[in-house]
Amino acid sequence: MQFNIENIRKDFPILSRKVNGKPLVYLDNAATSQTPQQVIDCIVEYYSSYNANIHRGVHTLSQEATDKYEQARKKIQQFFNAKSSREIILTSGTTHSINLVANGFTSLLKKGDEIIVSSLEHHSNIVPWQMLCERTGAVLKVIPMNLEGELIEFEFNNLLSEKTKLVFVNHVSNALGTINHIEHIIKKAHQVGAAVLIDGAQAAPHLTVDVQALDVDFYVASAHKMCGPTGIGMLYGKEAWLNLLPPYQGGGEMISEVTFEKTTYADLPFKFEAGTPNICGGIAFGAAIDYLNLIGLENIASYEHELLTHATKKLLEIDGLKIYGTSKNKTSVISFNLEGIHPYDVGTILDKLGIAVRTGHHCAQPVMDFFQIPGTVRASFAFYNTKEEIDTLIEGVKKAKLMLS
Ligand code: ALA
Repeated sequence: MQFNIENIRKDFPILSRKVNGKPLVYLDNAATSQTPQQVIDCIVEYYSSYNANIHRGVHTLSQEATDKYEQARKKIQQFFNAKSSREIILTSGTTHSINLVANGFTSLLKKGDEIIVSSLEHHSNIVPWQMLCERTGAVLKVIPMNLEGELIEFEFNNLLSEKTKLVFVNHVSNALGTINHIEHIIKKAHQVGAAVLIDGAQAAPHLTVDVQALDVDFYVASAHKMCGPTGIGMLYGKEAWLNLLPPYQGGGEMISEVTFEKTTYADLPFKFEAGTPNICGGIAFGAAIDYLNLIGLENIASYEHELLTHATKKLLEIDGLKIYGTSKNKTSVISFNLEGIHPYDVGTILDKLGIAVRTGHHCAQPVMDFFQIPGTVRASFAFYNTKEEIDTLIEGVKKAKLMLS
């Protein structure tokens, strides 16, 4: 498909609304992406024509819903190039996926085992592992970063030992946009026999991900950052790992047979999907993947890189503006501050101008502590943003500086 920004923008009804009397400039895509009409239609169609529970009924509606849900799982499998759809667990999102794996490792770790995380992680890829350490007596080690916001590879290599059992790193930092060298991390971790989970929440909407080529053990992502709805996400796990891990929750759907003496569990992927899932969300996740495939991940990556280059150049022309996260290897995220001005105040003025950015610590307090700041203003671009919108942001930041200095 030809990358035609005007046509693409027409697919997103929200982009034509006004905020505070100004045209919306939506630059908070790292928190939640917007939803194209194709996905909205899919949600409306589900509730208006085949809303029913899945895997349970012989009736037509249930079968239609089951087929669509399982087709969505297949689309997710293909998008991430997993070997089998048995390796794709549908969850409520990245946080749920990580907690599922962390819980599963409780019985597989012992006191003194080591877990490595990176200093660039979102709280959702720190706290579940701290809780796992509390349960098992395992020890958490942290890969430090440099001033560009890149992980220091030799420090990671030094942390690895035969005690290392698990390594957890994000593919892309949500706070800074750094793309981590996960190929290196996965290869090195495997050399000491450790399993690797990659948090792909900020990568999946921007980069092509091939879990088989990466040889990663677990990969997790959320639909709401990929033009899909909130409340649905995925966990990829190599089949051998998913067979080894115990179920996360008990209930209907995840069982094979139940008696009061003993329950046997269902096969993959259902072993990890207790209870009625987010059926509509799962089907809409499939529609979002269709949409991303239609635009093309390569087109998305190269267009977003243009936006990033344009915005970085223009922002750096503003006196007293500092960008945090200056790696050459970045997605379209820019975290910045104006000297002497609180990010919250900048965000509030930008909102008055119709510009949506995120302000604060971005659920990554250790990153903020590293730079000794309370937070940043974060502008994160998607493939439906334009250079004109970035110019509006620049004017907004200049105005905020004038008003707040
Ligand atoms: N994790 C999301 C963000 O970075 C919410 O904004």
